[in-house]
Amino acid sequence: MNHTDNEDDPNNSQDSDQSVAARREVDSRETARANRTWWDSEAASYYGEHGSFLGDDDFVWGPEGLREADAALLGEVRGKDLLEIGAGAAQCSRYAARHHARVVATDISGGMLAQGADLNRAFTAATGLTVPLVQCDATSLPFADSSFDTVFTAYGAVPFVADSAALMAQAARVLRPGGRFVFSTTHPMRWALPDDPGYPGLTVSNSYFDRTPYVEQESGAATYVEHHRTLGDRVRELTAAGLCLVDLVEPEWPPQNHQVWGGWSPLRGALIPGTAIFVCENRVS
Ligand SMILES: C[S@@+](CC[C@H](N)C(=O)[O-])C[C@H]1O[C@@H](n2cnc3c(N)ncnc32)[C@H](O)[C@@H]1O
Repeated sequence: MNHTDNEDDPNNSQDSDQSVAARREVDSRETARANRTWWDSEAASYYGEHGSFLGDDDFVWGPEGLREADAALLGEVRGKDLLEIGAGAAQCSRYAARHHARVVATDISGGMLAQGADLNRAFTAATGLTVPLVQCDATSLPFADSSFDTVFTAYGAVPFVADSAALMAQAARVLRPGGRFVFSTTHPMRWALPDDPGYPGLTVSNSYFDRTPYVEQESGAATYVEHHRTLGDRVRELTAAGLCLVDLVEPEWPPQNHQVWGGWSPLRGALIPGTAIFVCENRVS
């Protein structure tokens, strides 16, 4: 659910508008600026391409098509306070609102939230329900401690921040004791493979252990950044934030799903995981 439109080997690729893909260190500030700008400019085409698969008020955890209606990873949401980070157009939040949750949707990109505002108007007209949209960075949430029962995201924010330990700490801070944090993200093992939906995407080309970020840049300035954490890194960051990992879901590719989404495809999906969903609970202090 990143842009990953069949980039060549990121160690050295170049596209027609002179954007160069590379691996180099990128700090939080440069990462946030690049990704906010990138998602602002890509918002309309992203939902033009993927909006019908995601649905306007449905909750899809990743390109495999696992739906919250079937997986129930959030648990009971009725009457609960929910926060979505990296919400994009907030489809998942509208799903939660339909299921009687009080939910706030947040994202760093005003362009992505603008897509959500358009969809919100039709949703409110049809249901009478509202989903507030708030623009903020998931590593610096403008909410009081212990404000929410559940924090969640489907592929939002987590792979796009330099300091994912800070993101985990923020999620834990705004959660009530015993609350749940559930997030899906690119499966860490994909980092070692070319982002190609075909056979080249099945041959290791990069070290799984190399945490150097993937960067697209123009004139030396980052225009898009992804950061990698190994599975062990993720567990350590969650634990340090005071969260307990209660499940790690690796959705299998269903035979009826024929779509190709960037590097996610039926071919690769039949052989290797593409998505990891971390289900965590905030420690009861
Ligand atoms: C792949 S999209 C997923 C959006 C939505 N969950 C969906 O399934 O359509 C990733 C989202 O993460 C957001 N994002 C990137 N960096 C972020 C950050 N630091 N804080 C909050 N959101 C961020 C992007 O703006 C984008 O909307």
